[in-house]
Amino acid sequence: MNLFDWIKIIHVVLVLLWIVGVSFVSSILLLPEKSFKSIEQRMKAFSLIERRLVWQTRIVLLLSGGSGVWMISLLGGWSWYVHMRFWWVHVMILIWLVFTILTFVGEPLIHQRIVKMIEDNPVLAWHRLRTAHILIWLTLLTTVLCAVGGAQGAF
Ligand code: HEM
Repeated sequence: MNLFDWIKIIHVVLVLLWIVGVSFVSSILLLPEKSFKSIEQRMKAFSLIERRLVWQTRIVLLLSGGSGVWMISLLGGWSWYVHMRFWWVHVMILIWLVFTILTFVGEPLIHQRIVKMIEDNPVLAWHRLRTAHILIWLTLLTTVLCAVGGAQGAF
């Protein structure tokens, strides 16, 4: 095992940690109505968990991006990955960029609006947050599929 392999292991574990967090929140939003006494209680559980996860997500994003860039530099630089054959690496970087901007810029900007929507109309908030989380979940799983498949030469 060389340095590259160790960094890849850390990279994958970080990505796994991120996906587990998203899966956990999505599962709560997908639980049947009767699992909670009321929609307000469901949204309270969601807000509590989301608040705890936000720092974990930020750290994971920084470290997974950093480890990814480190691997590319170990492989001899970016010119190698500019090749379209490595489109799955481009997918990883694109998804990482989108979520980093959303997490560090987008979410803090709309945080108060989300809190207000949860207070004013918890049913609408629940529907919107559920759709958003399912989309994030599917996007991350598809990215992993592309990354692992691409690395094994499946595409
Ligand atoms: C700046 C962002 C990122 C960069 C620069 C990056 C870069 C890389 C590189 C260079 C590899 C090693 C490829 C090889 O073995 O030749 C890798 C592996 C991997 N990456 Fe990323 N990555 C990034 C973000 C992500 C994200 C957001 C995900 C998933 C949501 C992801 C999932 C994976 C997985 C699962 C592997 C292991 C593939 C395998 O060898 O089976 N990466 N990444």
